[in-house]
Amino acid sequence: MGCSPLAACLALAVAFLACRHERAAAVPTLSTASRWVVDEGGSRVKLACVNWPSHLEPMLAEGLGKQPVGAIAGDVAAMGFNCVRLTWPTFLVTNASYSSLTVAQSFQRLNLTESLAGIRVNNPGLVDLKLIDAFKAVVGSLGEHNVMVILDNHLSKPGWCCSNTDGNGFFGDTYFDPDVWVDGLTKMATMFAGVPNVVGMSLRNELRGARQNANDWYRYMQRGAEAVHAANPRVLVILSGLSFDNDLAFLNSRPVNLSFTGKVAFEVHWYSFSNSQEWSTGNANQACARITASVTRRALYLLDKGWPVILSEFGVDNRGVNANDNRYYGCAAAVAADLDLDWALWALQGSYYLREGVLGLDEVYGVLDWTWRKPRNATALRRVQALQRPLRGPGLAEAAPYTVLFHPVSGMCVLRRSPAPQPLELGPCDETEAWAYSAQQQQLVLRDGAPLCLRAEGAGKPAGLGASCGDAMARWRLVSDSKLHVAVNATSSSGGDGVLCLDVGADGRTVVTNPCRCLSADNSCDPESQWFKLVSSTRTVATKQTMLAQLPLKLKNWKIRSF
Ligand SMILES: *[C@@H]1O[C@H](CO)[C@@H](O)[C@H](O)[C@H]1NC(C)=O
Ligand SMILES: *[C@@H]1O[C@H](CO)[C@@H](O)[C@H](O)[C@H]1NC(C)=O
Ligand SMILES: *[C@@H]1O[C@H](CO)[C@@H](O)[C@H](O)[C@H]1NC(C)=O
Ligand SMILES: *[C@@H]1O[C@H](CO)[C@@H](O)[C@H](O)[C@H]1NC(C)=O
Repeated sequence: MGCSPLAACLALAVAFLACRHERAAAVPTLSTASRWVVDEGGSRVKLACVNWPSHLEPMLAEGLGKQPVGAIAGDVAAMGFNCVRLTWPTFLVTNASYSSLTVAQSFQRLNLTESLAGIRVNNPGLVDLKLIDAFKAVVGSLGEHNVMVILDNHLSKPGWCCSNTDGNGFFGDTYFDPDVWVDGLTKMATMFAGVPNVVGMSLRNELRGARQNANDWYRYMQRGAEAVHAANPRVLVILSGLSFDNDLAFLNSRPVNLSFTGKVAFEVHWYSFSNSQEWSTGNANQACARITASVTRRALYLLDKGWPVILSEFGVDNRGVNANDNRYYGCAAAVAADLDLDWALWALQGSYYLREGVLGLDEVYGVLDWTWRKPRNATALRRVQALQRPLRGPGLAEAAPYTVLFHPVSGMCVLRRSPAPQPLELGPCDETEAWAYSAQQQQLVLRDGAPLCLRAEGAGKPAGLGASCGDAMARWRLVSDSKLHVAVNATSSSGGDGVLCLDVGADGRTVVTNPCRCLSADNSCDPESQWFKLVSSTRTVATKQTMLAQLPLKLKNWKIRSF
């Protein structure tokens, strides 16, 4: 496959990792077991996907003018994503004025001269293929790197998505004829029925607009689901909700009625802007509690009803300059870790050939930078990578359940580097300490070895571990509306001063306690460094798996890749 010449593997650090990947088991066939996505043996497969668009006007997966498809697919795997949500427009397979085009013709028609020249250099084998064959080549390349693919019907008419009035929003809109849509789904399901790494199909991205209504949702989504399942019974069928895939609440009173079981999941999208500017204009703890409750009411409640819910779009401006995004991220990541959600990050692409009329538009939400050669922001990537490995689920009972002290905004977890009395630090979650927390006793105790509990030592001081666990300085409560502050009531007799919260020290890694920040009311302050989520896990503690998880970033020497 892609990496057989050893020399190539050694020369390219990224490809090296891709080779390791290829020796892993082949991609599984997925089905569902209550809220979990599982493999043939019934063991959990956590979908840790990244979105890769192929639905804009040129109808080719983005980035192929900048890097060879195999290099991009290898990077996806090397960054730890096990899956791509690959988007496609219906007309790619239903409308001859699009489906008849080769890649070159599609780019020439849009005057995308520079991109086409780049494709000739980086992907010469794709230039004269029909668009759908180029799409198949992208899927195939991902398959060579054992990356699973979810085919996402993003809209009908190729272009940027989505607005309420773009004619692609709901069944009956200008470009959204339900019969054409079912035809397109059937064609794609049939075409990829024999392609093992195509593990799922999502029926339609972000239904929306004036026509949207629940009755038609059932009528057409059930029809689409049956059509996909009939054409390709192997794939997971993924159903999105109304109002830009923010709303699946209607299913609470009326479940879907399908002829098959074990192959159906739902998807939800959650961005900061899903709630306008609520994050930056309100108190972050109150916004987190309120918005989490709302997302739960609209979508995540389905988990408890025994359905997988994939967070199939979420993400932030990776430059860290958007206050609304920054406050949202810690909260959304805490929820994703707590529920151990399957997800697909928006997005892989560092740029677009053409988006909304702009040539070469920079995607600030992109994992890759504009050159597609390196991560846009290694810090932002690392904190998403913390969500990639499953924590629990069928077949993952490697250890008795324990608690992880997860710090969502950094994607790190509380651990001890060296034996006590060394300070506790933030470090890779794969090396987490296993804690036990009981809300009754309010103690955070190291589960293994001699009983040691987490203790506050005073404002601004490193948190410690001690054998004496009965006093106020070792009694931890989850405070604020978000319940993301882990706090003690320090009294002067216990050497403390008021309510202290776990926090991160000035060095960015030592776990300390500081006076709790903006628990409520204050809208101007950002409490996120004090946000810790107590997450339940059953995965093996502190194995040197860590090495593998950390390797991609450290090994990545992007400069040695030739353009
Ligand atoms: C095919 O695409 C053209 C151009 O966008 C559009 O005008 C036409 O309605 C489409 N035909 C069908 C059958 O979807
Ligand atoms: C492409 O360029 C030609 C010649 O300059 C022009 O007539 C045409 O309108 C352009 N098409 C697009 C889609 O920009
Ligand atoms: C489910 O669909 C089947 C087949 O269309 C139909 O016979 C049945 O009445 C439906 N059940 C409900 C509860 O709507
Ligand atoms: C990377 O992301 C982090 C987290 O949002 C942010 O603090 C930092 O400024 C970003 N760095 C760059 C170079 O964009």
